Amino acid sequence: MKILAIETSCDETAAAIIGDLDNTQSLNPTTNITSSPQILSNVVVSQIDIFAAYGGVIPEVAARSHLEAILPVTHKALDDAHLTKDDIDYIAVTYAPGLLGSLLIGTLTARTLAILWHKPLYAVHHLKSHIYSNWLQEQCIPTFPLLSLVISGGHTQIIYMPEHNHFEIIGTTRDDAVGECFDKVAKILGLPYPGGPSIAKCAEQGDPTKYPLPHPKIDGLDFSFSGLKTAVLRAVQSACNLPITTPSHELASHLTDQQKSDFAASFQSTACDILLEKLNSALQLHPEVNSIVFAGGVSANQALRLKAQKYFTNSKVFFPEPKFSGDNAAMVGAAAYYEILSGVTPVDPYQLNILPRTPIK
Ligand SMILES: Nc1ncnc2c1ncn2[C@@H]1O[C@H](COP(=O)(O)OP(=O)(O)OP(=O)(O)O)[C@@H](O)[C@H]1O
Ligand SMILES: [Mg+2]
Repeated sequence: MKILAIETSCDETAAAIIGDLDNTQSLNPTTNITSSPQILSNVVVSQIDIFAAYGGVIPEVAARSHLEAILPVTHKALDDAHLTKDDIDYIAVTYAPGLLGSLLIGTLTARTLAILWHKPLYAVHHLKSHIYSNWLQEQCIPTFPLLSLVISGGHTQIIYMPEHNHFEIIGTTRDDAVGECFDKVAKILGLPYPGGPSIAKCAEQGDPTKYPLPHPKIDGLDFSFSGLKTAVLRAVQSACNLPITTPSHELASHLTDQQKSDFAASFQSTACDILLEKLNSALQLHPEVNSIVFAGGVSANQALRLKAQKYFTNSKVFFPEPKFSGDNAAMVGAAAYYEILSGVTPVDPYQLNILPRTPIK
């Protein structure tokens, strides 16, 4: 089986070819699926350099950049795998959620190729792809039932999966996503875009206990991150002896490098603790789970990985390879791979709608 996968939900234009690996080392007891997806090529063109100058993504610019990149990226994915269109059995594409203009470029490309090349088309939810990035490793793959913590630029959710392709959202953020919070705190500290990796790097020289920050009191398994962002803002204003009316963009110039590192470390540590405490509560409710699966851009965070390994010593914890934490098409192919093997029917390429906001399914 060979799948051409396409991903354009935000500011990465990506295409990958996924094939079959007959290794069966981690046969899932709840399914008869005995193979795992193999990456034959994986091409990602990021628009980070464009948006670093603006400090964030401009949707219209992102869509135009996808338009320029999508065909060269798709051709490169085929070339890198030494394949032609005739070798491709299926096409997969991200249809939701994401930026409207960005999703349009990817889905129109995939629909056109599916129609012209007479290939079945699979429309994949972006968060499902993030979760399935954990099936791209050859050593060991997750087994069901599992709990997934999806932590990205747009989402913070705990998802229970009894088996492939079944999702129950049991916790979600009530306001900001944790990735968005990393990005906004980085702005307060004057660190470059994207904020997550900048915070992680700056925090290496910092003391995570220097500035105690509050944990939100939200019942159940839901999250809230907007208060943490404001708490950092107030703590920075206080450390600089400035009034709370001081605009956030004026604060960084008042901080020393050591203060920035201490704030980055304190924030990162608090954000990780909040995530892991909720995930632990979910685990108490679902003691039957076999795997804990992290997914999304924030799962690249090294401090989180270390804390999680210590926190969940009795469970099997999975993180995607760091290069598959952010947006890429290999994970779209992996998600489609299990849809195909599970007998999910393809979509009609003439009917496929993009859905910028829709829950995982
Ligand atoms: N090492 C890191 N530590 C913390 N956060 C990180 C790290 N690397 C990336 N991030 C954060 O991950 C987010 C990007 O992840 P991702 O690409 O999965 O999000 P998205 O695709 O924009 O949103 P979504 O997947 O919800 O649609 C950004 O907020 C970024 O700052
Ligand atoms: Mg994403």
